[in-house]
Amino acid sequence: MSQENLQRLIAGDENIAMLTCYDSTFAKVSEAAGVDLLLVGDSLGMVLQGAENTLNVTMQDMEYHTKSVAAGCKDCCIMTDMPAGSYEKEKETALLNAKKLMAAGADIVKIEGGGEMVKTAQYLIEHGVPVCAHLGFTPQSVNQFGGYRIQGKTDQSAKSILQDAIAMSAVGVSFVLLEMVPAVLAKTITTSISAPTIGIGAGVDCKGQVLVLQDLLGIYTGVANKAPQDFKSPRFTKNFLAEQGSIQGAIEAYVAAVKNKTFPAPEHSY
Ligand code: KIV
Repeated sequence: MSQENLQRLIAGDENIAMLTCYDSTFAKVSEAAGVDLLLVGDSLGMVLQGAENTLNVTMQDMEYHTKSVAAGCKDCCIMTDMPAGSYEKEKETALLNAKKLMAAGADIVKIEGGGEMVKTAQYLIEHGVPVCAHLGFTPQSVNQFGGYRIQGKTDQSAKSILQDAIAMSAVGVSFVLLEMVPAVLAKTITTSISAPTIGIGAGVDCKGQVLVLQDLLGIYTGVANKAPQDFKSPRFTKNFLAEQGSIQGAIEAYVAAVKNKTFPAPEHSY
């Protein structure tokens, strides 16, 4: 939990292993397993609260879970999602909310989208808040996308994501997170910008990878009120627990696979 560690991670040569985390027990286990960056993701709306999407997650939820993760963490860097509705309108409100998340223990906040959000990212950075820009499939816009759909498949959409990544990197974001985009586009972005890229469903050529903890453990079976057998895991996930004897072993295997670039394999990519 320090800006120094965060800067070391950004500048370092090693691939970055990032994992979602929502509580102190898993923060401790993940840190011991070698995870570089813990993401207090608003995916908690789905994996903890059983909701269909991330749209109803609140600032209070994010502060509570950031504090819980920070309590279990010694040196690990913590990234916290700014929840839907907390940053999109006025940049002053974005800053106020980002500062609350930093006070709860975040080292860096993540916001979704390009375009107008570039100015918001710049404003946060100018006021001392490190930012990660989440591009490609951005879950808070699931309804605008018409569902969980891969982005950047057409030339126009690929160009727009690349331009957003270049603009975000130019204003000084610490990372660009790419979700569900073709591996070839993620590779182009990774080589075109100075900010390190972190991928989820974005191929092996990103500088780092992120997974949702419950996906890594193979225990997420969809919305709370739907039958588990009706749920199909997304292509980009992998159950690391199936091959290991323990939760810590599974997280260690994930970290090793990210570092040596054996994960994601082509079958996890688009
Ligand atoms: O909230 C989350 O867990 C995320 C990941 C899907 C990257 O944003």
